[in-house]
Amino acid sequence: MKFFVDTADIDAIRDLADTGLLDGVTTNPSLVAKSGRDFFDVLKDICDIVDGPVSAEVTATDFETMLSEGQSLAKRADNIVVKVPLTWDGLKACKALRQSGIMVNVTLCFSASQAILAAKAGASFISPFVGRLDDISEDGMALISDIREIYDNYPNFETEILVASIRHPGHIVEAARIGADICTVPPDILHKLVQHPLTDKGLAAFLADWKKTGQSILDRK
Ligand code: G3P
Repeated sequence: MKFFVDTADIDAIRDLADTGLLDGVTTNPSLVAKSGRDFFDVLKDICDIVDGPVSAEVTATDFETMLSEGQSLAKRADNIVVKVPLTWDGLKACKALRQSGIMVNVTLCFSASQAILAAKAGASFISPFVGRLDDISEDGMALISDIREIYDNYPNFETEILVASIRHPGHIVEAARIGADICTVPPDILHKLVQHPLTDKGLAAFLADWKKTGQSILDRK
């Protein structure tokens, strides 16, 4: 499973990139607005840090302008993935951008039927929003299961399942069980993945016992 971080916060991206565990980045207009920075400056900074796919979202809603925006975004760096919404015009833009070799992430997916259309449009990534489905008392992970099953029925579908709108570590574990390709995760939730109170307790006990021995590993030649 690949991990993308879902943020436009450069410090958080740099911190996670340093772990060597980060495979890519996703942004959206809300995250860019939250950063308070110029969109293109943010994209340049992210692409300077991360070699993997970096999703940058169009803001037009009609096909022609989405296509122009997508082409403009894709010119910024080789690893830019153009993010388009799951609408008819978004799907048309996806098809056209893919035909010119540009990677596309189809976002705001909330149903299996939408995911089928995205795969048929040649999307590089489909982004189903699990948390927002859970928020309205639907089952976000059931959608991931459905998409996995459907995509596996059609080996000519090359679209990767990018689980988005993740709210807690359980979403990531369940996505891995289902066989989703990628999770895009807010930085605070990525940090939570490593935490366990028994790890902290066990480490404290090991260190206390080691101190009693008076030994040092680095003192040995
Ligand atoms: O970036 C798309 C998605 O991950 C947004 O998540 O938390 O705004 O529902 P959220």
